[in-house]
Amino acid sequence: MKVLVVGAGVVGAAITHELARRGAAVTVVDMRAPAAGSTQAAAGVLAPWIEAHSGGLLELGEASLRRYDAFIAGVREASGAEIEYARSGTLEVALTAEQEDALRRDAARHAVRGIPHAWLDEAAVRAREPGVGPEARAGLLLTDQGYVRARDLTGALLLAAGRAGAVCQPGVRVREIVPTATGVSALTETGTFDADYAVLAAGSWSSDDAFRPVAATPVTPVRGQLLHLTASAPLAARVIWGTDCYLVPWRDGSLLVGATVEHVGFDERSTEAGVEGLRRAAAALLPASAAAALKEVRVGLRPGTPDHLPIIGASAASSRVVFATGHYRNGVLLAPLTAALVADLLLDGRAAPELRLANPARFGL
Ligand code: GLY
Repeated sequence: MKVLVVGAGVVGAAITHELARRGAAVTVVDMRAPAAGSTQAAAGVLAPWIEAHSGGLLELGEASLRRYDAFIAGVREASGAEIEYARSGTLEVALTAEQEDALRRDAARHAVRGIPHAWLDEAAVRAREPGVGPEARAGLLLTDQGYVRARDLTGALLLAAGRAGAVCQPGVRVREIVPTATGVSALTETGTFDADYAVLAAGSWSSDDAFRPVAATPVTPVRGQLLHLTASAPLAARVIWGTDCYLVPWRDGSLLVGATVEHVGFDERSTEAGVEGLRRAAAALLPASAAAALKEVRVGLRPGTPDHLPIIGASAASSRVVFATGHYRNGVLLAPLTAALVADLLLDGRAAPELRLANPARFGL
């Protein structure tokens, strides 16, 4: 089976690897370099119990998190690459009485659902994370969450996919996807590419004119600015989450500070206000971050959908075109599950139960 994957972000790369690993002949194209869209600005936090409190996103997030250990082990083995990944937990920190009340309600909800968690009073927060600021008054530890370095993961996925025979073509823009009687024809700047299936994993660009002959996806860009700070040693032991920012400490002393949420169309520029706001919020949580050097400001356009759920599954217009887009804030978390759902659908004709939560038909696609 020949498959064209459009988009080499973390979702497209995971699908490419999964299909190639399972025997398909896959080509993945991207109008830019791999991981140059929202993936390069993803902090890689794996936090379904923070990002979703109920409903379909929670179910999808939990299902994908359960796959993560095996997913990373498989990519490490198949690529030979080291990928920084840790399930070291997340600590949500309350700086005000109002935030503490909200966290207590979250803790009660986790208790009902049996999610492993621990309530920490001020002293316990400081014992776990001595670097937190003086305003910290309580914390909620979710021990099973964690993070992965998203760009490294994407690179390793494409390396592993290449070893399984997949071809990656960066700098190739798809001009049009045309369903045919037996598959799809993709018109690109370099020629026509015929395949049995096309998978649209183009993130914010999934509503591009190229895909309109199949369907107009309701995916819109939501800008996120992310800071990459550097210090000589890690400033925290785990992901720290506050109401105005989240912090991801890497082993090399880097600290990622994310992220703005801005509806500014296809504008991938950073702003002074965005950077200053994140630095202020980071310093309130971890004062030592104020002295950390600013290495890079990354900007990504999250692919938002009206209900914040992804769009995964075959198009009603042509079963040869499969959507894997609209992952909004959770592309890294949902990559393993999305890859498995798409591969099961294409290679085994199996529509897994989770697909109902991401059904393109809810948007008439
Ligand atoms: N997943 C966090 C964000 O998109 O900012």
